[in-house]
Amino acid sequence: MFALTPRDLRTRILDCAGGPSSFNAEMSREGHAVVSCDPIYRFSAGEIHGRIEVVFEPVMDGVRANRGRFSWRKMGSPERLGKLRRSAMETFLEDFPRGLDEGRYVEGGLPELPFDDGAFGLALCSHFLFTYSAQLSEGFHLDSILEMCRVAEEARVFPLLASTVHAVGGEGEASPHLGPVVDGLEERGYEARVERVPYEFQKGGDEMLRVRKRG
Ligand SMILES: C[S@@+](CC[C@H](N)C(=O)[O-])C[C@H]1O[C@@H](n2cnc3c(N)ncnc32)[C@H](O)[C@@H]1O
Repeated sequence: MFALTPRDLRTRILDCAGGPSSFNAEMSREGHAVVSCDPIYRFSAGEIHGRIEVVFEPVMDGVRANRGRFSWRKMGSPERLGKLRRSAMETFLEDFPRGLDEGRYVEGGLPELPFDDGAFGLALCSHFLFTYSAQLSEGFHLDSILEMCRVAEEARVFPLLASTVHAVGGEGEASPHLGPVVDGLEERGYEARVERVPYEFQKGGDEMLRVRKRG
């Protein structure tokens, strides 16, 4: 999703809107420095687990109903996707209490992050910005990416589709916020580039936005 290189993995990484994904658990196990931040980290593992149980099948129903909008080349089938997602969530739930104690999971939400300037080399955000373009304004997107750039040398956002297909089913279209947000970043002295990445699950969702301060 983020075309991460071995060099990227040597920096301190912030995973914004990390949710119940296994990125932090898997990276930490391999010795990389990752902090995830999400408003849901105020809840206990049991509470998050309960919520996952409520939404899991409706989410999978949405995927099955929109099967044609996804590329199954790597994922195989909705059944396999369901198994992978469950396994990722279990990995997260198992790691969460210890990660909280170690400060690897931090309660916090965009557009204001509870971290110092330049605390990270890289700030990532997947399936939140642009994905929820209908619910979150252009200003929210711009403020959020500027905030990611305040706490990290570089920010990357994936995918760039305005879509809730990831969650419940619907259209996957280029976000209307993308152009204005790129312009807003450029006006404020940032280089903002749309780049192709070697991952595509939502059809057309194979691009990330890479943002750095110019100069
Ligand atoms: C669809 S999930 C994506 C989770 C993960 N990044 C992934 O790709 O699987 C969206 C996440 O955004 C989180 N979220 C909601 N409001 C947020 C905010 N203001 N700032 C950061 N994350 C937020 C939700 O709690 C949820 O975990």
